[in-house]
Amino acid sequence: MSERTLVLIKPDGVARGLVGEILARIERKGLKLVALELRTTERAVAETHYAEHEGKGFYAGLLDFITGGPLVAAVVEGPRAIAAFRQLAGGTDPVEKAATGSIRGDFGLETQFNLVHGSDSPESAAREIGIWFPNL
Ligand code: CMP
Repeated sequence: MSERTLVLIKPDGVARGLVGEILARIERKGLKLVALELRTTERAVAETHYAEHEGKGFYAGLLDFITGGPLVAAVVEGPRAIAAFRQLAGGTDPVEKAATGSIRGDFGLETQFNLVHGSDSPESAAREIGIWFPNL
């Protein structure tokens, strides 16, 4: 069964010129892009997206980072799209958790600057797609 997930190529990925590389990996996996937009994120959108992290030590820095430059927001579709993109992304910590061959494992060094975000469950995907693409 096909499902959808929200993917962000974060400002570090855009600034480093990795948008094409990351989109190519998504497409080569067989996942389909159903929405794609370069945008600078309003603080309220970032706060809503990352609401579960409010109060954590990295929260303020995370909001500054996500709103600090353009990012690419996308909705990606395919069979098991949520797990498939998380496999492509690798674990949150690019060095300790992400395998070589994953996006974070190949291109990342620091947990905050981990290049991409992908929804972690069907409930998160529905919530996050509603935040970033309310008209979809
Ligand atoms: P993401 O998958 O988008 O979900 C939450 C984000 O918070 C995460 O990727 C990182 O960018 C950031 N993050 C999580 N843990 C830490 C941490 N310990 N230090 C800094 N940033 C973090």
